[in-house]
Amino acid sequence: MKKIGAGLQFDVYDLDKSHVLKKPKKKYNQYLIYLKWAPYLIFVPRKLSRLIANANRDRDYATNYFKKNKFTKKLLGNPKFTKEGVIQNKVDPLGNVFGRSVEEDKKLVDKYVDFVISCWKEGFADRIYNIDNNFGVDKKGNIVLMDFFEISTRKSDVQNQIKIKRWEKSAWYRFRISRRLKKYYKEKMESSLTQKNLNKYWDKK
Ligand SMILES: Nc1ncnc2c1ncn2[C@@H]1O[C@H](COP(=O)(O)OP(=O)(O)O)[C@@H](O)[C@H]1O
Ligand SMILES: [Mg+2]
Repeated sequence: MKKIGAGLQFDVYDLDKSHVLKKPKKKYNQYLIYLKWAPYLIFVPRKLSRLIANANRDRDYATNYFKKNKFTKKLLGNPKFTKEGVIQNKVDPLGNVFGRSVEEDKKLVDKYVDFVISCWKEGFADRIYNIDNNFGVDKKGNIVLMDFFEISTRKSDVQNQIKIKRWEKSAWYRFRISRRLKKYYKEKMESSLTQKNLNKYWDKK
């Protein structure tokens, strides 16, 4: 099986034409990937261990949460939890979709914001806001949260994300978003992801 992606929590393989298999990464490989990202961590092994323990706690938490709770399956690419790992619909990561034209990029941001609110209605929210590599679009053009393993399911956590504008701290916003889109994204997020809208939509399917 061809490997098509990887992060800290999973190795992602091409399962068939329209599905991926996400295998949980072994601890040993998590150490290696972290050291590749941040070599200085070799000198602070306790911090390194803590970071990995946190990632695995988040992965287990989300897995249990979505196994136990009802949710609209297509938001997460129709995941199936198997012994080997998570099978999920294959999507096109948003990082590939941005950059066609300013107008299309703005429409994609609008769609993404609507998607975040759809997740709010279900009672969960992504905490990382790296929208280029954790979200994708399916064949019908619907947004999918590919990486649903770093989530908040408590309203108070999302209230705090809004307060600190957590999305402005993401690596996507700081280093990867195009200059032309930055202002639009900032204003759209600020005007849509508000405490008022959270109260209106949170956990209200
Ligand atoms: N459903 C999917 N369809 C297509 N590519 C995917 C899918 N899920 C993951 N990938 C690819 O694999 C990468 C890592 O997957 P992700 O779910 O973010 O794992 P991690 O939690 O380890 O970061 C993604 O950035 C993306 O490039
Ligand atoms: Mg990821």
